[in-house]
Amino acid sequence: MNRSDQPIEALLDEERLFPPPEECSRSANIADPDIYQRAAKDPEAYWAQAAESLEWMRKWDRVLDWNPPIAQWFVGGKLNVSVNCLDRHVRGWRRNKAAFIWEGEPGEERVLTFADLYREVNRFANAMKRLGVQKGDRVTIYMPMIPELPIALLACARIGAPHSVVFGGFSAESLRDRINDAQSKLVITADGSYRRGQIVPLKRNVDAALKDCPCVEKVVMVRRIGDAAPVAVDETRDVWWHRAVENVPAWCEPEPMDSEDPLFILYTSGTTAKPKGILHTTGGYILGASLTHKWVFDAKEEDVYWCSADIGWVTGHSYIVYGPLANGTTGVLYEGSPDWPDKDRWWAMVAKYGVNVFYTAPTAIRAVMKWGESYPAKHDLSTLRLLGSVGEPINPEAWMWYHEKIGQGRCPIVDTWWQTETGSIMISPLPGLTTTKPGSATFPLPGIDADVVDEAGNSVPLGGGGYLVLKSPWPSMARTIYGDPKRYEETYWQRFGKNVYFAGDGCKRDEEGYFWLLGRVDDVMNISGHRLSTMEVESALVDHQEVAEAAVIGKKDDIKGEAIAAFVTLKEGAEGNAGKVDELKKHVVRKIGPIARPQSVYFTAELPKTRSGKIMRRLLRDIAEGRALGDTTTLADATVVAKLKSQYEEG
Ligand code: WT7
Repeated sequence: MNRSDQPIEALLDEERLFPPPEECSRSANIADPDIYQRAAKDPEAYWAQAAESLEWMRKWDRVLDWNPPIAQWFVGGKLNVSVNCLDRHVRGWRRNKAAFIWEGEPGEERVLTFADLYREVNRFANAMKRLGVQKGDRVTIYMPMIPELPIALLACARIGAPHSVVFGGFSAESLRDRINDAQSKLVITADGSYRRGQIVPLKRNVDAALKDCPCVEKVVMVRRIGDAAPVAVDETRDVWWHRAVENVPAWCEPEPMDSEDPLFILYTSGTTAKPKGILHTTGGYILGASLTHKWVFDAKEEDVYWCSADIGWVTGHSYIVYGPLANGTTGVLYEGSPDWPDKDRWWAMVAKYGVNVFYTAPTAIRAVMKWGESYPAKHDLSTLRLLGSVGEPINPEAWMWYHEKIGQGRCPIVDTWWQTETGSIMISPLPGLTTTKPGSATFPLPGIDADVVDEAGNSVPLGGGGYLVLKSPWPSMARTIYGDPKRYEETYWQRFGKNVYFAGDGCKRDEEGYFWLLGRVDDVMNISGHRLSTMEVESALVDHQEVAEAAVIGKKDDIKGEAIAAFVTLKEGAEGNAGKVDELKKHVVRKIGPIARPQSVYFTAELPKTRSGKIMRRLLRDIAEGRALGDTTTLADATVVAKLKSQYEEG
């Protein structure tokens, strides 16, 4: 378990309390504390009432069919997510309201009104149809943060083709595996993207991936870079976006989707080397995303809202694209890095666009903290009224800094716990109601039945810790792992019985019932808020011809939360030197992507193992973090770890 700067006992004694500012309570979307009780008393009635806020083509027959662990929500209902995000706004006065204010890394600006977005989505939906994409076909999207990215997602939703977005920081090989797993027919990409002034050659990665993807028929490419990123064009397969939308009809009939029809697949790391294709469906997902956006971020009509995530992660799906657009919110979309051209880019943008609500990750806050307060201090941040955090536990120090230096002591902070699998926020303050404590995600949202249980599945009394579970289904829950329903049941619905969702996180509750998330309890690492499995990185390492064996751990890191440390045994005759360290790091980047680059690589003649041959990662973590070794009695050979420790200490 990982908690960056304090032992948990210190956290539970947290005495600093931040009640909601009066102004916020007075005007909040949710100001009635009875909502929690009402939801708990009759969850189905609660969710049904909430679902009235969506536009349905056909109303549902039943709110929920629950055959654990299989849930179906709003059974018999029909709707289209793009209609909910666009058509209903375009019909009324929001037509000319900004949907996205986009800024490219080099500095270009583009504002898309809801009408603009609607037009582009309709056109691209028709373009995809013309390329042979039909309802149910999967589409892989590998794009930079440019307007065409949300346009592509919404166009897929409009024609009922589930999208699978692959983050642009993944390698060609990772992309290939995800395309093949989803059996995508179409890939949407760009010639390249900008990152810290450099060009990331996306199309080149697509070309490499597609050498082994027979399922792909067509590739659409956005011209983002132009001459500086020349691309190889396969005339039978590749088409430029701007050509694809030429002469297509301006209107595309939205596909009436069943509540339970798939909306998207999103790959995330589990405890094995193979990522899981988390499948989300239509009705429940858009309800979860829109409702939580409205309540947790207290979305107001006049808001300028900015979630700094990448759309390649679930945070971007739910809180850049679907939630905010369903609520008719104006969102900022930024292509690049926070420290380009200088470390005040974000704050310059907050001031420039008058951002009111800002949502980011603890790793970013810690980086900004390290750069120093002079960067935010240079800009007028007085428009901010609410701040959010997501992706990993936020340490109280970072929370306080965020509160004081960015929120200027004025803005409530919502620390939101959720996962790719939960689809939307599960545990979070409600800004007008909840008194917050620095470092606690506070309480489960109304209708969310979270608990902390021990090894045997018994609820742990307040003051104690254990495993975080969700004991009742919720609308935006994942429905399955694409193509592997068995793994879905085994991973989430077995450990504590088939009625109980096992999140994979450790959690404590204090005497007042506040939830304190403690990090993963499995072999999943959280590197700068990005989820990676130790096994994934290990198998990338052993793929190198000179590596015999590898063990990977997430080592505490002041900025990233966790950083990757690899312990490697080389094959006979291979030499572990500085050059080899470099080579192995590069190899992992090539296999998985830059996000998986190990921070440190250590060579060792042997790895510490139990008598049954299991690598004891816990001891490796002790070594890497410079602690005394924990219990070593189950080791097959205790000298291995002792040697490793002294070797490590020598540097
Ligand atoms: C894992 C899910 C869903 C948003 C982005 C990450 C960790 C997420 C928090 C938080 C403590 C958090 C958990 C979780 N996590 N938010 N507020 N406090 N931990 O999505 O990639 O699916 O990762 O991120 O460990 O299981 P993800």
